[in-house]
Amino acid sequence: MANMGRLAGKTAFISGTGVGIGRAAAEIFAAEGALVFGCDIDADAAAETVEIVEKTDGVMRSLAPVDLSTEEGARAWIDAGIAAFGGIDILYNNASALRNGPFETMPAEDWYFTIRNELDISYFCTRAAWPHLIARGGGAVLNVASVAAVRGAPFIPMVPHGAAKGGVLAMSMHLCAAGAPHRIRVNTIAPGMTRTSATAPFLDDPEGPKARLEARIPAGRVGQPEDIARVAAFLCCDEAAFVNGANLMVDGGDSAMAG
Ligand SMILES: NC(=O)c1ccc[n+]([C@@H]2O[C@H](COP(=O)([O-])OP(=O)(O)OC[C@H]3O[C@@H](n4cnc5c(N)ncnc54)[C@H](O)[C@@H]3O)[C@@H](O)[C@H]2O)c1
Repeated sequence: MANMGRLAGKTAFISGTGVGIGRAAAEIFAAEGALVFGCDIDADAAAETVEIVEKTDGVMRSLAPVDLSTEEGARAWIDAGIAAFGGIDILYNNASALRNGPFETMPAEDWYFTIRNELDISYFCTRAAWPHLIARGGGAVLNVASVAAVRGAPFIPMVPHGAAKGGVLAMSMHLCAAGAPHRIRVNTIAPGMTRTSATAPFLDDPEGPKARLEARIPAGRVGQPEDIARVAAFLCCDEAAFVNGANLMVDGGDSAMAG
């Protein structure tokens, strides 16, 4: 029976599908009927996600390993997906990597690593996908910011991360303008603290601030990958046709609190 999900018939490119929110997104987008083209720098993790999606009769292919933080890598991913599925309706720029550290002592190299792997990565992938979205007659781009893009983080020093994600947020609003003549919608999703392999060491540290953090969040907990991926699927589907240039905080209410 044909899948009647809210993404039925759409081709969705999702970056960083190896683990975390990207893996959850691959599962949820496929369950909603999308043909998913994923990728990751980690080939084993990427292959495992394809296996998981196919076990539930989802359709997914991916390219891995690929480093999307270079123009060539981003283009290789988009070209491979176009060759596999013939076009693109959705680009979800999920993949990122960062380096945190104290502002005073963190080497400039870590700043550049973070900007490259959080901001350049979305720019390169969007640039590579853009002509294909235009050729399709429009589509949806979803970038990933963070609560850290709009406020300081009291618990972990993350100046480069905040700057990179702030850049993603600003870039998205300008891309929204650039996409208007082509019927390309561009939105941003801003997750709050979400449990993934990237955050588990911090959240599982008995000396860490998890309890203080959760006490501050109105929802009383940190996010799970599915909390973010479900909202991402909505933002990319046609029900969200009038949501454009938006930044949706998905953080259990954390960013609405004062301190
Ligand atoms: N987890 C959180 O608390 C949180 C909070 C705010 C924003 N975010 C954002 O959500 C997104 C997903 O976060 P996550 O926690 O699932 O991350 P994660 O680190 O668990 O997963 C990221 C995936 O992207 C891949 N990747 C990284 N750099 C890559 C590159 N250059 N080329 C190809 N693949 C690459 C990784 O291998 C990994 O599979 C990221 O953009 C992150 O900044 C996460």
